[in-house]
Amino acid sequence: MKYETLYDDTPIPVLGLGTWRMGGGMEADRSQDEKYTRAIRAAIEMGYTHIDTAEMYGGGHTEEVIGRVIKDIDREQLFITTKVWSSNLRYRSVLKAMESSLRHLGTDYVDLYLIHWPNPSIPLEDTFKALNELVASGKTRRVGVSHFDLKDLQRAQSLSATPIATNQVRYSLLSREPARNGVLKYCQDNNIILTAYSPLKEGVLSIRKLKELAQKYKASPAQIALSWLLSKPKVISIPMSTNIDHLKSNLDAVELELSADDIETLNRLI
Ligand SMILES: NC(=O)c1ccc[n+]([C@@H]2O[C@H](COP(=O)([O-])OP(=O)(O)OC[C@H]3O[C@@H](n4cnc5c(N)ncnc54)[C@H](OP(=O)(O)O)[C@@H]3O)[C@@H](O)[C@H]2O)c1
Repeated sequence: MKYETLYDDTPIPVLGLGTWRMGGGMEADRSQDEKYTRAIRAAIEMGYTHIDTAEMYGGGHTEEVIGRVIKDIDREQLFITTKVWSSNLRYRSVLKAMESSLRHLGTDYVDLYLIHWPNPSIPLEDTFKALNELVASGKTRRVGVSHFDLKDLQRAQSLSATPIATNQVRYSLLSREPARNGVLKYCQDNNIILTAYSPLKEGVLSIRKLKELAQKYKASPAQIALSWLLSKPKVISIPMSTNIDHLKSNLDAVELELSADDIETLNRLI
């Protein structure tokens, strides 16, 4: 595994495990719990330590599935990120949401707690009053945001008692918005990790150039797509997979180093 460094010098794995849809969409679906439990356990056994989830995933059930797997694992070996949903951003709702996430996960703290989406109808001051308390009480070690544009990110920084650890945004070969709207550069310049979600979706894997490079590096298109993302300073990614071979191959992508020329070719691709 390779690591990026958080503002407090804690290492964070450059590749984490996404869990969206493991245990349902926005509501719980318990019918495939065994499959998801197996995938999460296998991921941890092969070396994943960062798990990304959210209270909204499976209506809380995804956190429960993760909780079942991690109960036998030394908590300090894991880095758990969860998120508070956008309708729960009032002071009391944030505190309540955290209690429910901790109960579902079966842990007494998370490593990183994110605002899942901004909600303009709830004052951000209210949300950060709660988030600052949660950091002070140790229920989360750090806070961060997701889907924040530059202006909202700077406001979050001004309201947070501790530095914003990450902004989690869609970023992939086919979704370059963070590179265009200044968010990527701002994160890199201000020691904020950019967590790239959905790194393999939207047809990324069918890009022809990826297939060519995959042959050249004796790798898979997914590995090239991940390696391109991870070549960027301050960028980490959290692909989701329930397939053991994919989990392993995504993890191995961390060791793949593309040449500067090939990175530049991919930069210019779209
Ligand atoms: N902050 C937010 O609002 C937000 C939004 C979306 C996602 N996220 C987070 O980011 C995570 C990742 O995003 P995502 O789940 O949307 O998309 P993703 O990780 O880009 O794509 C997941 C899909 O890719 C397939 N896949 C994974 N590895 C593969 C490989 N090596 N080769 C071929 N196919 C592969 C998976 O199928 P198999 O299971 O068959 O491998 C799955 O269908 C989520 O799970 C979630 O934790 C956050």
